[in-house]
Amino acid sequence: MIDSHGRNINYLRISVTDLCNLRCKYCMPEKGIKKTCHDEILRFEEIEEIVKKFVSLGIKKIRITGGEPLVRAGIITLIEKLSKLKGIEEIAMTTNGTLLKKYAKELKEAGLTRVNISLDTLVDEKYRTITKGGILKEVLEGISEAKKVKLTPIKLNVVLIKDFNEDEIMDFIYLTKDEEIDVRFIELMPIGQLKQWSLNRYLSNEIVIKKVPELIQIESRDISSPARHYRLPDGKGNVGLINPISCKFCSNCNRIRLTADGKLKACLHSNNEIYIKGLMRDGKDITEVLYNIVKHKPKEHGLENGEYIEREMTAIGG
Ligand code: 5AD
Ligand code: SF4
Repeated sequence: MIDSHGRNINYLRISVTDLCNLRCKYCMPEKGIKKTCHDEILRFEEIEEIVKKFVSLGIKKIRITGGEPLVRAGIITLIEKLSKLKGIEEIAMTTNGTLLKKYAKELKEAGLTRVNISLDTLVDEKYRTITKGGILKEVLEGISEAKKVKLTPIKLNVVLIKDFNEDEIMDFIYLTKDEEIDVRFIELMPIGQLKQWSLNRYLSNEIVIKKVPELIQIESRDISSPARHYRLPDGKGNVGLINPISCKFCSNCNRIRLTADGKLKACLHSNNEIYIKGLMRDGKDITEVLYNIVKHKPKEHGLENGEYIEREMTAIGG
């Protein structure tokens, strides 16, 4: 469906839980997040119903996110159901990869197309520090398993963090040399309670080009992708730079977000949310509401003007 700014909105991101089995320093506040009551979280039947309506409005691509989507019980069944809906061409997932070794095969069989894996360091000790206890080996094994069952192309999401991983930029880029793996560097966004932490650790991803000048810019396969793409001269995979703040990609944005507690956000960076779960509970027909949300998706965000996202990322889903 085309919105009022001429963009083709065909991509829905669904956060299925705000819980996570890791505690990344830029994502989970020290004291934890306010626990959402079980019945505030969207039930799978509700997700299915919302997706069906969205498919009739032209959504073709779905991404399942969290928190960590693989900690939600029954997730495989949900994917099975969604992948069978006529009109859905792709279902991807963003995961921290720690449970992929266990679930990759079942996910593939359920109809998942591919995975993005969040990984900010390739060093055991640093991984333990940034995730407050995570085990790198589990993620690396998860990546291997995802490759094996062809949840591909695999994309690694690396959040750039000052004084933490700028010395590993080259190591990450080297992963794209011999394998069709995409590595995407993401700038830290000031979000929720960790706004100040993120502002202090922010690193513009221009540093990637500075450190590795041999990268060659290439055409993006997908114009709606928020990443600028590069490659090593003899590389197999792509290197993506995602600048959520320093460079706007709003004019090609094709996505809508559904939060774990049943709210729709037409723009990640807007604090405007429509409580769809509540409307459904009241027995309202939501088709027109969904249509209006898509139609009136904001033209652009105001992050450069000091606006920031109040809600934690775990509830919105990356
Ligand atoms: N800034 C940038 N990326 C973030 N993520 C979580 N919080 C932030 C933030 N403040 C990323 C995770 C993961 C994806 C779901 O969102 O690292 O890759
Ligand atoms: Fe979990 Fe991802 Fe947040 Fe890390 S960034 S705590 S893996 S949701």
